Amino acid sequence: MGEKISVLIPEEKVNERIQELGDQISRDYAGKQVHLICILKGGAFFACELAKRLTIPVSVDFMQVSSYENGTKSSGIVRIKKDLDESLENKEVLIVEDIIDTGNTLYYLIPLLRQRLPRSLRLCALLNKPDRREKEVEISYLGFDIPDEFVVGYGLDYAQKYRNLPYIGVVELEDEDGSGESLPEK
Ligand code: IMP
Ligand code: MG
Repeated sequence: MGEKISVLIPEEKVNERIQELGDQISRDYAGKQVHLICILKGGAFFACELAKRLTIPVSVDFMQVSSYENGTKSSGIVRIKKDLDESLENKEVLIVEDIIDTGNTLYYLIPLLRQRLPRSLRLCALLNKPDRREKEVEISYLGFDIPDEFVVGYGLDYAQKYRNLPYIGVVELEDEDGSGESLPEK
């Protein structure tokens, strides 16, 4: 049984939207330096593309949390796997994440980062699945709202594959006879 990827958001549309977000963030933070917190691993691809389009001074740090062990099942537990290297004190902090799904990860992470006394703290996400939300999370900068489907590409993986796709795709499982079937619910 293989997987087939169908395109949900083509590369040009993703790039166009990232440029718009970059312009907006550069305007909003004019005269300031923004400190990007890239949430590994998924946020890395988006964070790089976004950072390249910012015209204000930028610094970057990385953090890895996990709420999902392998595959598509949510464990419901958020764990810090790699913490930031630098302090957030007095910085204009912008969290860069690939997707907000249930909201559990950021609902946990935002208060934790706020305790580190940044001057400001906002969230930028490439994708949002509003239908799946369990915890309310404020997204200041959003690429796209998407339907409740399991997506890959632009940093998002399915069992660690497909992060490198330059577009957002939907995974379909393929039987021997080639008939498509969507992934089961998470
Ligand atoms: P949340 O805590 O449910 O908001 O989800 C956070 C993490 O789940 C994201 O950062 C992704 O790593 C992962 N995730 C959620 N939906 C998808 C998807 O459709 N494809 C790939 N990963 C996903
Ligand atoms: Mg993630």
